Amino acid sequence: MHHSQRKQDHLDITLQQDVASALPTGLDSIRLRHCALPDIALGDVDPVIDFLGHRLATPLLISSMTGGSPAGGRINHNLAMAAQTRGVALGLGSGRVALAEPDTLKTFDVRAIAPDIALYVNIGAVQLNYGLTQDDCRRLVDVLQADGLILHLNPLQEALQADGNTNFAGLLPKIAALCATLPVPVMVKEVGWGLSGATAAALATAGVAALDVAGAGGTSWSEVERHRADSAAAHDIALPFRDWGLTTVESLIEAVAICPQLPIIASGGIRTGVDALKCLALGARLVGMAGALLPAANQSAAAVEAAIDSFTAQLRVAMFATGVANLTSVDASILQRASHD
Ligand SMILES: Cc1cc2nc3c(=O)[nH]c(=O)nc-3n(C[C@H](O)[C@H](O)[C@H](O)COP(=O)(O)O)c2cc1C
Repeated sequence: MHHSQRKQDHLDITLQQDVASALPTGLDSIRLRHCALPDIALGDVDPVIDFLGHRLATPLLISSMTGGSPAGGRINHNLAMAAQTRGVALGLGSGRVALAEPDTLKTFDVRAIAPDIALYVNIGAVQLNYGLTQDDCRRLVDVLQADGLILHLNPLQEALQADGNTNFAGLLPKIAALCATLPVPVMVKEVGWGLSGATAAALATAGVAALDVAGAGGTSWSEVERHRADSAAAHDIALPFRDWGLTTVESLIEAVAICPQLPIIASGGIRTGVDALKCLALGARLVGMAGALLPAANQSAAAVEAAIDSFTAQLRVAMFATGVANLTSVDASILQRASHD
């Protein structure tokens, strides 16, 4: 199986099938505390935020998705155009295919159309056990003119793939070595099952610049792999994992508590600007969105811009109605406790 074919399968399945986790993100049971007398004008509400040396117009990272196929290249192009005009950060999909099949590199190459954005390349941390070197990572960052590297941790996804890379032993020192030697920030994310507090603490000690919890509640990769399964047995193995993982809220609360000094990205099932403000109130610096932006990205840059605009409008109204003019002052005081607490 070519890497580019696998990436095309992922796009086709996530666009056409229901691959939602059977778990809720947890955000629906959290409310923001309404403020009937906000001492601000809506026009003064500004969701600008600083992240690893970049100023973002709104606290959004477009989560790593694709590249490697013509459709993936078109999607990256649309995402990059929108990230540039809307001032948000962009994670490219796994660059493993670009290292294995160099003629696919152009499907990741968006710097010319997005000269100012915070741009991150991505690869599976497990590849460090399968021949990926620090030089490979540095080359990927250099050739795509990226601002950082996002490593993903996806043990369950690899375990459910017919051709998965399942030796996750001894990765932490390799991640630490990469953090120490790469000239750009190294971040680590899950892909939809969350990081526990213990994992977040270990990664913080390894020297990561930020963590993205990528919790359960949105895209489920066991469901994607179930749809890809080429045998009844493979299908049946994936099935009970549809409700696996730490939810986005569980993972976010654990990571923030144990790594209060580290920028934490909340992702996994984020859909609206209201979701985003809840995550920021819980201690996230940014939110990430993948699945919710994919249909727009498959359509056009303008569709992605419209989706980001509606996210930002929701966030600004939520900030106004909780009485906060900017995100530096946001904390748990804008969360509503249930009256029986
Ligand atoms: C089509 C698609 C492809 C993805 N490919 C990658 C990838 O290459 N690397 C990665 O770290 N995560 C990848 N992800 C996972 C997302 O970055 C994200 O962590 C996950 O989908 C949960 O977010 P969501 O619920 O907003 O979709 C992909 C997600 C989608 C929908």
